[in-house]
Amino acid sequence: MKYAIITGASKGLGESIAKHLLQEQIAVVSVSRTENEELKNIAISKGMDYKHISCNLSLETEIQEVFMEIAHCLFEKNPTEILLFNNAGVIEPIQKVGNLDQTPIIRNIKVNLIAPILITNLFLSKAQLTNTKVTVINVTSGAAVRSIEGWSVYCSSKAGLNMFTQTTAIEQAELKTENTIIGFSPGIMDTGMQETIRSSSEAAFKELEKFKEFKEKNLLLETDAVASRLIDLVLRGTPESGRVYHIKELLES
Ligand SMILES: NC(=O)c1ccc[n+]([C@@H]2O[C@H](COP(=O)([O-])OP(=O)(O)OC[C@H]3O[C@@H](n4cnc5c(N)ncnc54)[C@H](OP(=O)(O)O)[C@@H]3O)[C@@H](O)[C@H]2O)c1
Repeated sequence: MKYAIITGASKGLGESIAKHLLQEQIAVVSVSRTENEELKNIAISKGMDYKHISCNLSLETEIQEVFMEIAHCLFEKNPTEILLFNNAGVIEPIQKVGNLDQTPIIRNIKVNLIAPILITNLFLSKAQLTNTKVTVINVTSGAAVRSIEGWSVYCSSKAGLNMFTQTTAIEQAELKTENTIIGFSPGIMDTGMQETIRSSSEAAFKELEKFKEFKEKNLLLETDAVASRLIDLVLRGTPESGRVYHIKELLES
């Protein structure tokens, strides 16, 4: 039996990942601040095990409490594999360095980088005492490897997430565990995050017009198509630990 934990499954890419996993008969634990009623109804109609747990991923004490409980409940069932999708993310602050406010800087780093590190650490720690394989999928961004003016904090948090992924993979290989950790860069998708980007100002974000054009010209990827390729890789492929996959290569393969 496999279980999946998805952070940020209330909307956007996380919601699509959850739908695909339920379709594949994989039990889902969704973690975000708000609940997605549609996911709950899909799970009920399929008779699938599904749970939403409210957690603010910018609060480390909440993360510790909530994920200790999730880990306890899941490892107790002795599953063959736990899939951990660190998907929740925030783009803000969109602003040039020198004009940044402290609170959104800290929130960004906490949600995009510290939360995935804390959760992965907890699950790999618990896995040591069991026969359960843990597969971690860290949702990153092209912004991790390309400097984008106005996105310094987002670029930095995602670059940190890539390095965390690669370093953890080396350690797990050295320890000769079965655990796998990959990064996944989903491309530019039609989600709330893109709405936030389009509502920023050109003074803060130089590429604003380009991103508005992506929407106008219908160039944004649909989250369902992106999630479908990711789930194919994770369930039917052989993901290479430490590698950061880009949606482009999965769409071309
Ligand atoms: N959209 C793109 O073009 C794009 C491109 C490259 C990478 N990405 C990455 O893809 C991932 C998904 O993005 P998306 O576009 O689907 O974003 P989205 O539609 O804005 O959804 C973000 C998700 O993160 C959750 N979240 C945000 N802050 C949270 C907090 N403090 N605590 C708990 N959950 C929180 C939200 O849940 P609640 O609000 O319910 O808490 C929501 O479910 C992110 O990691 C993003 O960086 C997106």
